[in-house]
Amino acid sequence: MNLLWAVSALLLSCWRANASTAPNIITEPSEVSNQTSAVLSCNLTESSLPIKGSHWIHNGKVIEKSKSGDTTPYTILRLDKITHNSGGKYECVFLTDPEVKQTIEVKTLPHVAAYKHSEHGNEKDIGAMVCVSHGYPLPTDWTWFKEEDGAQTPIINGTTDKYEIKSTPNKTTLTINDLSIENDIGDYICSGTNELGTTSDKIHLRVRSRLAALWPFLGIVAEVIILVTIIFIYEKRRKPDEITDDDDSGSAPLKSNSTENNKDKNVRQRNSN
Ligand SMILES: *[C@@H]1O[C@H](CO)[C@@H](O)[C@H](O)[C@H]1NC(C)=O
Ligand SMILES: *[C@@H]1O[C@H](CO)[C@@H](O)[C@H](O)[C@H]1NC(C)=O
Ligand SMILES: *[C@@H]1O[C@H](CO)[C@@H](O)[C@H](O)[C@H]1NC(C)=O
Ligand SMILES: *[C@@H]1O[C@H](CO)[C@@H](O)[C@H](O)[C@H]1NC(C)=O
Repeated sequence: MNLLWAVSALLLSCWRANASTAPNIITEPSEVSNQTSAVLSCNLTESSLPIKGSHWIHNGKVIEKSKSGDTTPYTILRLDKITHNSGGKYECVFLTDPEVKQTIEVKTLPHVAAYKHSEHGNEKDIGAMVCVSHGYPLPTDWTWFKEEDGAQTPIINGTTDKYEIKSTPNKTTLTINDLSIENDIGDYICSGTNELGTTSDKIHLRVRSRLAALWPFLGIVAEVIILVTIIFIYEKRRKPDEITDDDDSGSAPLKSNSTENNKDKNVRQRNSN
């Protein structure tokens, strides 16, 4: 019986201690959703801890201009123009010992952007299109559409070998196999959805014929052939000159010999004369 008393007394004192000393931060609002501006506030209550100051953190980074040496248990942060860049997790931090903090989530529509607004592939080849997303929260669902005559036809993953979609929260890739000029040229739309709604972006896909793809290569081949021909002709024309040059130098001693001989002859002739 004594033990039971002791245990319950202990539990009670623990609960009391918790209740009386556990600092509590009341946030207002508790979250921001789809708004263009907001004022975030934190009210530290039920704390007797001395406060040396406070600041705010956005996605893990301290907001320098929010740093304050104010010792009041209350802090606010004004968000004037909320875009996907300002969305995310905000934390108010009170510089007590230990520090106490609380989070307010600021949610926006996802920002969806094509990696490139114009893509191209070669006939019979693979075409790939990429869209990325920023903001908070990131899309939970990605959908791709093909725009045909103003109508958007969803592309279903896995029903054929033609299309393959690979998605993570911040990126989606649509791969089209065996590209065809007749069927695959056109506009494609990637669409990302989070709990607040959907945004999308558009990519234009061009498909080149295989022959067109060969043109630059054929150009290089032609260039090489012309160059080789020029060099060949040049060498051919140079050869005879070189041979005569060689003859000159090769026959020079002979010639000089012969002139010497001639001289000798002349001398001899003169002598004989
Ligand atoms: C903070 O919360 C306390 C207790 O709920 C309340 O009395 C006080 O008015 C609040 N302070 C502000 C600035 O809202
Ligand atoms: C699409 O299908 C492929 C293969 O069936 C699979 O690997 C991929 O995860 C699927 N993508 C999505 C977004 O469901
Ligand atoms: C996408 O998310 C992954 C993992 O969460 C991360 O490593 C990568 O840097 C992110 N990419 C972009 C463009 O934000
Ligand atoms: C968020 O705002 C956009 C337009 O500003 C609206 O289309 C969308 O429906 C809103 N979403 C929610 C969940 O209120």
